[in-house]
Amino acid sequence: MAEYMSTRDVKRLEEGSKATVRGWVYRWRDLGKRVFIVVRDSEGILQLVASKGFTPEDVIEKARRASIESSIIAEGVVRRDRRAPGGVELRLTNLEIVGHAEDFPIKGGEGIDYLLDIRHLWIRSRKLTAMWRLRHKAFEIFREFFKKRGYWEVSPPMLTQAAVEGGATLFEVNFFGKKAYLTQSAQFYLEALIFSLERVWTLAPSFRAERSRTRRHLYEYWHLEAEAAWERMDGMMRLVEDLVAYTVGRLVETAHEELEVLGRNVEALEPSRKTPYPRITYEEAINILKRKGVKVEYGDDLGADEERILTEEFETPFFITHFPLELKSFYMKEDPQRPGHALAFDLLAPEGVGEIVGGSEREDNYEVLRKRIEERGYNVDDYQWYLDLRRYGSVPHSGFGLGVERFLMWVGGRDHIRDTIPFPRFRDRIYP
Ligand code: 4AD
Ligand code: MG
Repeated sequence: MAEYMSTRDVKRLEEGSKATVRGWVYRWRDLGKRVFIVVRDSEGILQLVASKGFTPEDVIEKARRASIESSIIAEGVVRRDRRAPGGVELRLTNLEIVGHAEDFPIKGGEGIDYLLDIRHLWIRSRKLTAMWRLRHKAFEIFREFFKKRGYWEVSPPMLTQAAVEGGATLFEVNFFGKKAYLTQSAQFYLEALIFSLERVWTLAPSFRAERSRTRRHLYEYWHLEAEAAWERMDGMMRLVEDLVAYTVGRLVETAHEELEVLGRNVEALEPSRKTPYPRITYEEAINILKRKGVKVEYGDDLGADEERILTEEFETPFFITHFPLELKSFYMKEDPQRPGHALAFDLLAPEGVGEIVGGSEREDNYEVLRKRIEERGYNVDDYQWYLDLRRYGSVPHSGFGLGVERFLMWVGGRDHIRDTIPFPRFRDRIYP
């Protein structure tokens, strides 16, 4: 039995070498004397040629029947040819059709709703495959980064008892007759774990029952979160910019093929490999928007449109800090230097993407935090365990959450967040 090679490895072989590959028929062309098949596997694509005089007749016949998306095993001889994709083709000596494909329902030019219904087939496309690879590499780099920084990876629950980011976007779950929720953020559990491990991080799903359907919201997304004891807002912002700059840099170095298939202008990412990133306060953000003719007032929340306009001012990610307390979550610490403002930061990605990270220093005083919970009209009982953390050896601490799909939207240059996750959940359909 021949040893199988990936389409990538075949491209490294010398002219005349024998090789066996397996994959799926990506393109197919019958020119009479010659049949061209482009086969794809997880590593890329490779041209196969069945030609009269070289390829046995029965193999040419099989090549004629190899429909788009059929799975095949192909044996042949390497030939360098500048016209072939990647400069190499395989002249067929043998071909096995392993699984014949019926008429494939995606031919190009279909509408989004149709394609989403057959997402399980659409995920094979070259662009989406490049995104799954980019995603994998980003996950690897995140893990590498936190390991280098001495952070412990932990596993918080997905089923929770109280809201982290407010009740409006909670998904309710019937937990043996009691109300529970799908987590919006692992933050509170990470806060509990810093009393044991000091510096922790996790990469897990978060759930948001978002009201509006936008190009940057998912109902289920992957959330990279970290929390550190003793860390103040400034140190946490430095960690965030280091993480983002490091990951972008490593992706540019190790995922150029994926970024090329995605059509990403990699040059535009270069400036983001360097830190520090620019910092503006919320107040400065409002003033920039006003100067640009946007109708906003101090105290307004910054929505997707405002964020997009702000990103025109920067070519790298940038921080917005010191939001009015009431615009932000109850757990954020008030800045003693600027009463009424939170020690909070958002990191916005350039090129129109907007917020990719939200973080803050946390309120660590029991009484202050309890009052905040009451002021917001939340039920203190629901937060008793969270308040306990302020009763037994409280410590200054800070943390953040990065939306992985938002990050990939930016790095991968995608217009819509659904292009960054294999099976996005939608309100009107949960399948496939
Ligand atoms: O700003 P958010 O709501 O902050 C938190 O959840 C904090 N508890 C995190 C923490 O401090 N540990 O969410 C963090 C990030 C956002 O900046 C955004 O990138 C992403 O999560 N995000 C979403 N991504 C996709 N779809 C949604 N519906 C999202 N909601 C938030
Ligand atoms: Mg936020």
